[in-house]
Amino acid sequence: MPLMTTKPMFDLAYNGGFAVGAFNVNNMEITQGIIEACAAEKSPLILQISKGARKYANMRYLKHMIDAAVEDHPELPIAIHLDHGDTVDLVKTCVNDGFTSVMIDGSHHAYEENVKITAEAVKVAHASGVVVEAELGMLGGIEEDVVGLNAEEYEKNVEKYLTDPEQAKDFYKRTGIDSLAVAIGTSHGAFKFKHEAKLAFNRIEQIMKTCPGLPLVMHGSSSVPQEFIDLVNKYGGNMPNAKGVPEDQIAMAVQKYGVCKVNIDTDLRLAMTAKIREVFATKPAEFDPRNYLGPAREAIVGMVRRKLHVLNSAGKSDAILKHWEKLGRPLPTFYMRGKAA
Ligand code: G3H
Ligand code: 13P
Ligand code: ZN
Repeated sequence: MPLMTTKPMFDLAYNGGFAVGAFNVNNMEITQGIIEACAAEKSPLILQISKGARKYANMRYLKHMIDAAVEDHPELPIAIHLDHGDTVDLVKTCVNDGFTSVMIDGSHHAYEENVKITAEAVKVAHASGVVVEAELGMLGGIEEDVVGLNAEEYEKNVEKYLTDPEQAKDFYKRTGIDSLAVAIGTSHGAFKFKHEAKLAFNRIEQIMKTCPGLPLVMHGSSSVPQEFIDLVNKYGGNMPNAKGVPEDQIAMAVQKYGVCKVNIDTDLRLAMTAKIREVFATKPAEFDPRNYLGPAREAIVGMVRRKLHVLNSAGKSDAILKHWEKLGRPLPTFYMRGKAA
């Protein structure tokens, strides 16, 4: 039963020159595509579920689908993670649902409020053996909507939104978090940069120094490959000027600077959408969902395999399983079926 927290994964990723990919799941095809890719590449993985995914798919369905994935691939280290949890109540619900990891995202609150809700979330989650990711600083995309910033203004003044290394030190000490999502110039979604794509690698370096031992997480890490944008646009889509983080910059953040977790959602959405559009455009008489969702699932497999190489996590599953065994196979109090461990 290699469902686990992210601790055994991050223990090895921290100095290991690789990061664990955290992929968002909303339905069966996405879940199966991710799992199949990780099985083919012998890679650890984090399946992450947003508040929106819980609402869209109904948590009971997601729970059983993930259970099936874990049962199907007992050889893979898998963590189940809440993405961008916004309240301590949601954290509690996810802990009871059997998540092994949760994110409490208080980054849009004033600093003291972020400290307060994060510390509360840590207390609740740790009591059940669940690990906690928090966020400090501000990313573009989702967060910019919350505070009413536009993308242009975010990009122009990005320095002032990046994570402050000294504040990170204080935050780590006062909250007891297990990992930290940092703002280093990435944004959510398909339109990350109007100008040159640039990450603040020096911030990663500084935060690693002020918070030694704390695994860092990069959100907004899709690279929005141009060939997929071209396919979407060729087959009737309209996504002009989409731009992501170049894959060589992601690889550098992971392999040279030590980022341990990389969040990817948009690239999976793009792969799926490009393929479905292609089927609809080239086979207008097609109406069996299996004949467009099947190819879309294959496109997810291809995209995730590509990412596992960028993250250098391909081939790392056995080492993580061994480390997990050595730690005494720790599991949170509840796991996906909601039974006591
Ligand atoms: O960062 C957010 C993820 O891409 C999830 O997005 O809230 O639309 O499910 P969502
Ligand atoms: P992307 O939109 O770049 O895929 O980022 C996803 C993410 O950060 C989920 O938390
Ligand atoms: Zn995110």
